[in-house]
Parts: sequence; C-alpha cells; structure tokens
Amino acid sequence: MIRKAQFVVSNTTPEKCPKPDRAEIAFIGRSNVGKSSLINMLTGVKELAKTSQKPGKTQLINHFMIDDRWFLVDLPGYGFAKVSKDKKVKWEKMISTYLTTRQNLCGVFVLIDSRLEPQKIDLEFLNWCGEENVPFVVVFTKADKQSKTQTDKNVKAFLDKMAEIFGDYPDYFVTSAEKGAGKEEMLTFISDLIAE
Ligand code: GTP
Ligand code: MG
Repeated sequence: MIRKAQFVVSNTTPEKCPKPDRAEIAFIGRSNVGKSSLINMLTGVKELAKTSQKPGKTQLINHFMIDDRWFLVDLPGYGFAKVSKDKKVKWEKMISTYLTTRQNLCGVFVLIDSRLEPQKIDLEFLNWCGEENVPFVVVFTKADKQSKTQTDKNVKAFLDKMAEIFGDYPDYFVTSAEKGAGKEEMLTFISDLIAE
C-alpha cells in the first residue's frame, strides 16, 4: 500500500528533474490511454495526476514522491494527432532523452488500451524501448470497458505480437483504474523493483 504521495515538480527538460537519489518508475503510453488515472488508482489519491477526457492533458515530465522513498513519473502521451509537428518532435525528444538518460529509472510501465487490437504505434514504441535497453513492463488499461472475453482476446493478440518481435513474452498487468483491478499485483511488483 502507498501511504503518502506528493507532487514534486513538472519539467520540460530531463536535466531539470529532481536529483536522481532514489528509485524511479515512469508511466507512458498513448494519449488518453489512462496513465494519469492509473497513477491515481495506485496511489489512492484521486486527483494527484490530472486526468481529462480530451487527449493531450499531460504535457510535462511530472515527478511525484511516494512514501518518501521513490519517484513516480507521469509522462505525456505519444501519438496524439491534434498537436503541431513542432510540438510533437519536441515531446518525442524530451521523452526519449528522459528515458535513455535518467540514471535512477528502474522501470517503465507502458500502457496499452485493452479495448484495441494491437496498434502499430505501441509496438514501435516498445520495439524502441527494447533497442535502447529501457526496462519496460506492459500494462493493459480500461479492462472494465468491455467483457472479460474481449479483454483476454485483445491481451493475447498483443502479447503474441510482442513475442513475434522479441522472441519472448513480456511481464504484463491487466488493470482498471475505475474498478481498481490489478492494483495489488502492480504494487507488489513495484515494491520488488525499488528494493533491487
Ligand atoms: P494524456 O495525459 O492526455 O496523455 O492521457 P492519460 O493517458 O493520462 O489518460 P487519463 O488518465 O487522463 O484518462 C483518459 C480518459 O480515460 C479519462 O476520461 C478517464 O476517466 C478514462 N479512463 C482512464 N482509465 C480508465 C479505466 O480504467 N476505466 C474507464 N472506464 N475509464 C478510464
Ligand atoms: Mg495524463
């Protein structure tokens, strides 16, 4: 369980992030996939990370301090169409620099919408993580939005695609920010990760 969650700082440049003096875990995925909602569900603080029905809400690198022990980071989404080319390039650079240079980063949760068939943009991003040695875990979101059969089908299709690319199945979680599904499993995983 998380006892304390505080906002620390928002940044556009990885160099300005807080001193990397403790373990850090980041959340990323397509715009509107449910990153901020999942963070609020995990921490049990309803409006810790700002959420929105409109994609593109989170635009900065947002650091939160959890239990005075580790940093949780909410990142802007990728693949948001309604944004200028300039801004898109800037975000991509900001995110890729952050992910490849942050020394205390011990895991990245890559969120995937469980309602969709495998999306090229997600597979490409995960492939990039693999190439850059960014340690990732896959988190399927919004499982409450459809039947369990449909969720299972989409999850399996996505994992099979990943196995094709990587020759291996990734660690993954199936979650619902709405219902709290996957919370205990993710928190156990996180506590093992930050203890390493
Ligand atoms: P950006 O910051 O724009 O990249 O989006 P985000 O990935 O942070 O998404 P956010 O958490 O703001 O959620 C987007 C929308 O999806 C909001 O309307 C949420 O209420 C909804 N949502 C997120 N997670 C869930 C879920 O598990 N179940 C349901 N039913 N809705 C969800
Ligand atoms: Mg967000």
